[in-house]
Amino acid sequence: VGRAFAELIRRERGWILAERGVHLVISGITTGRFGSITDPGGIDVAAALDRARRGRPHGTAVEASRFAVACPADIIVETMPLEPFHGTHAAAVIRAALTAGRYVVSANKGPVAHACAELSRLAAERGVTYRYESAVADGMPVFNLIRSALPAADITGMHGVLNSTSTVVLEALARGEAMDAAIRNAQRLGIAESDPSYDLEGWDAAVKLAALSATVWSTPLDIHRVTREPVDAGTAARAAEAAVRGQRLVSLASAERIGDGTVQASVRMVELSADDDFYSLAGASLGLRITSRLLCPITISSDNPTPRDTAYGLLADILAPTEIRPATRGD
Ligand SMILES: NC(=O)c1ccc[n+]([C@@H]2O[C@H](COP(=O)([O-])OP(=O)(O)OC[C@H]3O[C@@H](n4cnc5c(N)ncnc54)[C@H](OP(=O)(O)O)[C@@H]3O)[C@@H](O)[C@H]2O)c1
Repeated sequence: VGRAFAELIRRERGWILAERGVHLVISGITTGRFGSITDPGGIDVAAALDRARRGRPHGTAVEASRFAVACPADIIVETMPLEPFHGTHAAAVIRAALTAGRYVVSANKGPVAHACAELSRLAAERGVTYRYESAVADGMPVFNLIRSALPAADITGMHGVLNSTSTVVLEALARGEAMDAAIRNAQRLGIAESDPSYDLEGWDAAVKLAALSATVWSTPLDIHRVTREPVDAGTAARAAEAAVRGQRLVSLASAERIGDGTVQASVRMVELSADDDFYSLAGASLGLRITSRLLCPITISSDNPTPRDTAYGLLADILAPTEIRPATRGD
C-alpha cells in the first residue's frame, strides 16, 4: 500500500497541483526493512521505489514513532502492518505524530478499531485531523460517505462483504474445488496471504466491524465477542449445494445497534439469491449496506479493488476539505 501510494503521488502530483491547488511533496519514507530517508525538498520517489524493488536500503533506520515526529512533514501517512487484536504499534506512531501537530492519514484498521476515540480527541486538541478512509474497504468511500452524507440518518446497521479472501475461496468451493486448492487459487491471484487463516476465520472482518462501530456509534467492539463462522472444509458442501440451487454462499459481516445502545456483530455464512445486491460481488469486490432510521438502505460496492484503490483512499483523505496549515514549511 505504501508503494502504491508513493507511485500514485509521483504520477498524479501535477494533476493534483493543477486541479486541486495542492503541492504534495513526499519528504520522507520509513519502512520495516529498508530504513529511512528524508529530504525537506522532496525525495526522488522513482529512485526510492526502484531501491525498494531491488531490496536496497534507503538509509539508516529511524524508529517509526520518532520518524513521525522528526520527518519534515505536515501530514504523516501510516501504512504499517495490521495488529488485529490491539493495534498498539501503529497507534503509538499515530499518537506521536498527532501530538507533534501533524495531520495523520492511515490505511490501518487496528488503531481505528482499538483507539479511534482517543486518537480523534487528540487530533482535535492539537487542531489537526486523523483520517482513515482506506481502513475498511480500500478506496470505497465508507467513512467519508458516513461523515459527510449520513450524519442525520441515525445508522442502525451495517452489513458487508468485506473480506475478499473469503469470497474467492467460497467461489472456488462452490465450483467443487477442495479447500487446499481453493486457498492456493486465492494465493495465486494475489488475494490471500501466505497464511490465510486470519481472513478465513473471520478476524479481518471482525476488526472492520469494530472500526465501523467505533466511528459510527462511538461504541468500542471487543472483536472476541463478534460471532464468527469460519470458511473451512465444512463450508465446502454448503457452498456447492447453494450453487446448484442458483444461490451464492458468502461471508457476511454484520453489526447492528440494538435498543440499549449496545452493538451486536457477527461474521457468518449467508446464502444470497440472485436478486440480492451482493450476489454479483465476485473476486476481490466488496460491498456495504447501511441501514438507518431516517433513510432507505444505502448499498455501495467496489469492483475488484487493488492496493491502488487503497492508495486512492489515502489521497482522498489528504485532499478532504480540511484546511492544512503548513507546520514545517512555507508551501
Ligand atoms: N493490502 C491492501 O489492499 C490493504 C487495503 C486496506 C488496508 N490495508 C492496510 O494497510 C496497511 C498496509 O498494508 P500492506 O498490504 O501494504 O501491508 P504490508 O505489505 O505488510 O506492508 C506493511 C508496511 O509497513 C512497513 N513496516 C513494517 N514494520 C514496520 C516498522 N516497525 N516501522 C516502519 N514500517 C514498518 C513495511 O516495511 P517493509 O516492507 O520494509 O518491511 C511495509 O512498508 C495494513 O494496516 C493493512 O491492514 C491494506
